[in-house]
Amino acid sequence: MRTKIIAGNWKMNKTAAEAVVLIDEIKSALDGVTGVDVVVCPPATDLKDAGAALKESFISLGSQNVHWAESGAFTGEISATMLCELGVGYAIIGHSERRQYFGESNESVNKRTQAALKAGLIPIVCVGETLEERDSGQMEQVVTSQVVEGLADLGDDLSRVVIAYEPVWAIGTGRTATPAQAQEVHALIRRTLAGISSGNVANAIQIQYGGSMKPDNAAELLAQPDIDGGLIGGAALVADSFAAIVKAAL
Ligand code: PGA
Repeated sequence: MRTKIIAGNWKMNKTAAEAVVLIDEIKSALDGVTGVDVVVCPPATDLKDAGAALKESFISLGSQNVHWAESGAFTGEISATMLCELGVGYAIIGHSERRQYFGESNESVNKRTQAALKAGLIPIVCVGETLEERDSGQMEQVVTSQVVEGLADLGDDLSRVVIAYEPVWAIGTGRTATPAQAQEVHALIRRTLAGISSGNVANAIQIQYGGSMKPDNAAELLAQPDIDGGLIGGAALVADSFAAIVKAAL
């Protein structure tokens, strides 16, 4: 049985002071909850205060990106070592907004993922097709190459990766993939993982769905056999709705 994992991707929302307030609300809304992995990923400027607010909590801290180098002349970037020092345990990598607006490629996703794993972070590697790609019959090829190229050469560390399937057409649009549509791609991802790994690895990897997951659609998505959690954007910014999604995963 795979443990479900619900992660909040706050994107560029919440100042550090606001992050502490939201984390306190989430902590009380989830008081007593066990049996599910919960992660919050605030902006980088919030990580230190968010880490302090999460001390002693079962909720983990995640970043929204990580650079592949340990240090150096990479203006605006943040290394895995820097994140680890702040108590960060997870790093979202290759989110579609990074791919779309900041030139992220499967190759850079792979470099970031390798660096994250080397430093002991758990990468949440995002994949997903655009509407044009889906409509022109390219979904399978796009998602497969994102998985194969993004996760190339990880060796045994592949087993520590979390994958988020986020159809770009469902992100922030209110248009969710149907449970059947999502399950179809999750199964494809797991088959693809089986092709690049051995033993029980593909079966053990957590695959989250992301894209307008909300309290009212979470349960039926999470009931699908290959959907192991959610990467939540908008609904993660309100403690009650985030907590309701976590509870739907129990
Ligand atoms: P959304 O975002 O839940 O607001 O659609 C999900 C994501 O981009 O991770």
